Amino acid sequence: MPDPVRLADADAGELLTLQRAAFVTEARAHRDLDIPPLRETLDELRAVLADPDVLTWGVRDSGRLVAAVRIRIRGEVAEVGRLAVAPDRQGHGLGSALMRAVEERLPPPVRVLRLFTGELSAGPLRLYARLGYVETGRTPEADYHLVHLEKHFR
Ligand SMILES: CC(C)(COP(=O)(O)OP(=O)(O)OC[C@H]1O[C@@H](n2cnc3c(N)ncnc32)[C@H](O)[C@@H]1OP(=O)(O)O)[C@@H](O)C(=O)NCCC(=O)NCCS
Repeated sequence: MPDPVRLADADAGELLTLQRAAFVTEARAHRDLDIPPLRETLDELRAVLADPDVLTWGVRDSGRLVAAVRIRIRGEVAEVGRLAVAPDRQGHGLGSALMRAVEERLPPPVRVLRLFTGELSAGPLRLYARLGYVETGRTPEADYHLVHLEKHFR
């Protein structure tokens, strides 16, 4: 995998396109088109990219943005969100490789990674388990539950 690069305002349009394309699968699995990654507007995404507490990384292949992830730093906790791989590039290790690469790039105070996904997201749940995440609880969302996971490292 090419090294991940930090994404900024100039990448906002491409990132929105990637996010919307990738998260349709999640939405269909949960019969909920209103999930935040699909609802997020370009302006909201640009505000996140400008937020100094959020680090957004992307992977480009021959210039094309094929994967991305967003990390909000809160002291020793890093909240992972919006992990997305382009639909035609899924299942070839890109998502796992990006998650591992980002772990190595987190600032020193970070000791815990947290994330959540829908309970019907079988693929992501397997992926996070393989990466060492463990479930910490479930919360209701529409007519399904969100599964909260965390991983301690360092
Ligand atoms: C979830 C997501 C980020 C995973 O990214 P990915 O690049 O497809 O993930 P990986 O390829 O690393 O791993 C996924 C599968 O591919 C397999 N895989 C890994 N390396 C592979 C390779 N070299 N060749 C073929 N398959 C491979 C893995 O075994 C895994 O299979 P399994 O989950 O069925 O056991 C991606 O599918 C996606 O964007 N989904 C939609 C958005 C989403 O759900 N995001 C997460 C919500 S929290």
